[in-house]
Amino acid sequence: MVLSKHLNTDSLLKEAQDHPNNHKRVVYSSTDHQATLPYGARYGVQPIPKYKLPSKGTDAEATYQLLHDELSLDGTPLLNLASFVHTWMPKQADQLMMENIGKNLIDQDEYPMTQVIHTRCVSILADLWHAPSREHAIGTATTGSSEAIQLGGLAMKRIWQEKRKAEGKSIHEPGPNIVMGANAQVALEKFARYFDVEARLVPISEESHYRLDPKKAMEYVDENTIGVYVILGSTYTGHYEPVKEMAELLDEYEARTGHSVPIHVDGASGGFIAPFATPKLEWDFRIPRVVSINTSGHKFGLSYVGVGWVVWRSKKFLPKDLIFELHYLGSVEYSFSLNFSRPAHPIIAQYFNFVHLGWEGYRAVALADLKNARLLSRVLEKSGLFVVLSDIHRPAESMLGSAKQAVGLGFDEENVESYVPGLPVVSFRFSDEYRQKNPDVQQRWVQTLLRARGWIVPNYELAPALQDVEILRVVVRENLSAVMIDRLVADIMEIVLDLAEKDSATRALSKISSIKTVEAHYGRLEEGSGSKYNGTYAKQC
Ligand SMILES: Cc1ncc(COP(=O)(O)O)c(C=O)c1O
Repeated sequence: MVLSKHLNTDSLLKEAQDHPNNHKRVVYSSTDHQATLPYGARYGVQPIPKYKLPSKGTDAEATYQLLHDELSLDGTPLLNLASFVHTWMPKQADQLMMENIGKNLIDQDEYPMTQVIHTRCVSILADLWHAPSREHAIGTATTGSSEAIQLGGLAMKRIWQEKRKAEGKSIHEPGPNIVMGANAQVALEKFARYFDVEARLVPISEESHYRLDPKKAMEYVDENTIGVYVILGSTYTGHYEPVKEMAELLDEYEARTGHSVPIHVDGASGGFIAPFATPKLEWDFRIPRVVSINTSGHKFGLSYVGVGWVVWRSKKFLPKDLIFELHYLGSVEYSFSLNFSRPAHPIIAQYFNFVHLGWEGYRAVALADLKNARLLSRVLEKSGLFVVLSDIHRPAESMLGSAKQAVGLGFDEENVESYVPGLPVVSFRFSDEYRQKNPDVQQRWVQTLLRARGWIVPNYELAPALQDVEILRVVVRENLSAVMIDRLVADIMEIVLDLAEKDSATRALSKISSIKTVEAHYGRLEEGSGSKYNGTYAKQC
């Protein structure tokens, strides 16, 4: 029987209770917004209000069990192929994090060793990204790439303002702008909106490989451009944006106009893939126009969620005005991040990886991820059911437009340098043939049906200009081994072939909409209360 949308499960449960008047020992009561406590009878625990602070506390063991059970309704991080965020570390890292879980990174005086580890991490990244001098580079840990991107953008904005003021020009009329591809992750657009900078979004196309087209980007650059955000690699398809080409065009522009426009590289994912998988690729501080780079330690930096980094090639690109000198925690400290307090353990976890894996360890993981991503791409394409939009499984020449598309004699399949550089991401859609044969099958059903088998694989539209193209996307992280890919492919194929059968059970199941909890509306915004969606990437990352 189909349940009407108007049925309220809260009131149904209230009516179905044994004795609403005698709730002294009643444990299951969702109606008064009480948490259901499965072991209440055993522990003798009273119902707990869900949306206000309980007047009395609950025994730690019972509380643990309650939350442990509720949280088991979440998806399995291991099967979350939608996310770039790393979900596993060796148990020694877990132990180290637990030992340091109470430390605050900002308390530099109290936790000097933690601070030393922070500095070492910044220095390691500056070196990895070829900063001209490790001594003069400067950087900080952040909560993730989002905070790091805000800081990179703020520094560029302040430098532009200082220059304008020195020239006696207005910083308000017209105001500053920043240029980025329309495939930009929401963090980049947030910077523009939160810090009053006009976001100039460069349309993407199939020809631009769904990412920033440097030539087109130049049409958006002027004397009020504080910088260009270049993404390594795109959240949608994993493509690296051409940093070098962008820099060369900006060099020409500077020679012509005298306006120097810096580049901030958003290396949220690529900052930890490119240096290891394709070290010869120039995208970092080897390019003088790249003034700052961010990355997420919690993506391919292989740490748990909660750590990102921003590094400036030299102190001169971080205006003093953004650095706060603090005197009240026992000594003089400097702060140039958006947060004051910050947990120290994610930074310790990052350093654990640096020591434990070293350059070779990171390279081995990156190469394995890319190899598995190539495997998945090829299987999907060979099935004839899908077209793959990401390019990391294609010969490197194909991006240069050469006719040498086919894998020919002398092609080294094992060598990562043979392929188009990019993130271990596989973006795919139904093939034209499948769509023609099954015009009524919707690609988004695959997402729902895979979820029923435990896999989390998102289906979403591309950025403006290509918003009619829907893609499914798998991020190949360390835990997605060839064995898991085998299972995943079998599930995808079975679902897609079953959907082609008009009266299959799978077709009926596709009607299940995405999973939402009944409580989703508490403390959240109503649908439609946000600003108008302008089509850029605002999906799960
Ligand atoms: C290109 C890009 N930039 C920024 C972000 C935001 O990173 P974080 O989640 O670490 O804040 C993401 C997340 O996926 C991303 O893919």
